[in-house]
Amino acid sequence: MNNLAKYREKNRAAWNEATTLHLRNPNNPLGRVLQGGCSLARVEREELGDVRGRRLIHLLCNCGHDTLSLARLGARCTGVDIADEAIAAARSAAAVLGLPVRFIRSDVYDLALDEHFDIVYVGKGALYWLDDFAEFARIVARLLAPGGRVYVYEEHSLLPFMLELDPTAYNPASGDLNYFHDVEPTSSVGLDYVGLSGEGTKRSYEWQWTLGDIVTGFAQAGLRIEFLHEWPFISSFKYWDWLEEREDEGAFHIPADKPQLPLSFSLQARRD
Ligand SMILES: C[S@@+](CC[C@H](N)C(=O)[O-])C[C@H]1O[C@@H](n2cnc3c(N)ncnc32)[C@H](O)[C@@H]1O
Repeated sequence: MNNLAKYREKNRAAWNEATTLHLRNPNNPLGRVLQGGCSLARVEREELGDVRGRRLIHLLCNCGHDTLSLARLGARCTGVDIADEAIAAARSAAAVLGLPVRFIRSDVYDLALDEHFDIVYVGKGALYWLDDFAEFARIVARLLAPGGRVYVYEEHSLLPFMLELDPTAYNPASGDLNYFHDVEPTSSVGLDYVGLSGEGTKRSYEWQWTLGDIVTGFAQAGLRIEFLHEWPFISSFKYWDWLEEREDEGAFHIPADKPQLPLSFSLQARRD
């Protein structure tokens, strides 16, 4: 097993533990979806547009809350995640909801799927678990049918530095940070950002990717960038207490009287 494969296995173990902790909390997003809610942010619903009948694959789908929300909107969904516990929870939720969603437990880098999709969807705390973005972009390009698109809604690459510079922020991965990618990951313990139980999980490993790495990765994989939007709001987590929650948007906003900085971005790229 090479070094990167070792890190992926460590992350799998950490995410198995984290998932168990997350599912213990009644406010976990899968619980909300099981009660009839939709876990997608408004920006995602608007930018994804009409997904009815579309073949959609959600990479790094965790417990499948967003995958199931997309299936409710009419997409023909497949979800992929490395964590056994996350895929088990996703499968049982799909059965309870009676939604025909396929969930595959796999490292995204080992995904053995000889199929094409209209939409590859990924985001909300996903890209920094990838250790090789160029290879990930090539996998995405291979999964896309001609005319298909990848849609990403993700934490902004500058976010770790905003957290690092502000002691009032929730900053689980605090440490030596560079804006630029380093093959050596940063690491942290305790992935219970749902319940904030303070309970430890095994050490997990993350990689920084700049906006340039992400755009260039997709472009060099042969995809045509259609848009890159930066947003002064975020949906993955309320990193600062003072962010304003807008429930109808599924997002936490920087208040209007504070400097508007980019907390997230969305990107779409197409296979011609
Ligand atoms: C923060 S969650 C993903 C975000 C998801 N959109 C959500 O809202 O929960 C990160 C997920 O990435 C998965 N993951 C990490 N490395 C992976 C890999 N190499 N292949 C597939 N899944 C991976 C983890 O198991 C975890 O479920």
